[in-house]
Amino acid sequence: MKEVVLTAKEATAIEGWSKPSQQRSVEILSRYPDKRSAVMPLLYISMIENGYVTEDGMRQVGLLTGLSPAQVQSVASFYTMYKREPIGDYLVGVCTSISCFLLGADDVLAAIEDESGVPDGESGGDGTFSIEHVECNGACGGAPVVLVNWEMIEGVTPEKARELVRWLRDGRPDVVNTEEMQRLFGGKRAFDWGVKEPVGAILPVPAFGPYGSVGGEAT
Ligand code: FES
Repeated sequence: MKEVVLTAKEATAIEGWSKPSQQRSVEILSRYPDKRSAVMPLLYISMIENGYVTEDGMRQVGLLTGLSPAQVQSVASFYTMYKREPIGDYLVGVCTSISCFLLGADDVLAAIEDESGVPDGESGGDGTFSIEHVECNGACGGAPVVLVNWEMIEGVTPEKARELVRWLRDGRPDVVNTEEMQRLFGGKRAFDWGVKEPVGAILPVPAFGPYGSVGGEAT
């Protein structure tokens, strides 16, 4: 890793970010020979800091990477996991691609919409849920697949989907973990994943350790 020292302008751009996020940004920049390559992980950090990818966040990431705000926006708008509007504490995604569709994903999505009161593609007024349909998550053998803050549950029925929504709404878990949710709300899995995942997501952002989005035993 190369040593990275932020310029005064770069440091000022992110002085409103938490100290851990500032430190993570420097660590991430140090991993890349060309700092523009850090645009994607830095967008996740800006999303954690601001709740979603804001205009200011894109400007901040642009300053850190040497990209123009328009170039940063072109990345942020291409990938659907970067959210450019406020999202709920629990981002619930239902895969509606072919395998999941054939095994009842539309009914699972309808149950989640009905139980949460939040339509597909929207966020609830109280900030608890955002609901969306997503494309194939590569676990087609475990269809239908549901994701909560990108933690996967396989073999979900409409009834179990309703239980999941109630569990999230009433219990408001700080960490959502795929193993726990699979045990409580899942069914048949694509295959035995082998290694149990001890950590989970603490935010509606993928649980990648370096970004501060991870909770559980390994933190
Ligand atoms: S079609 Fe749903 S995981 Fe592949």
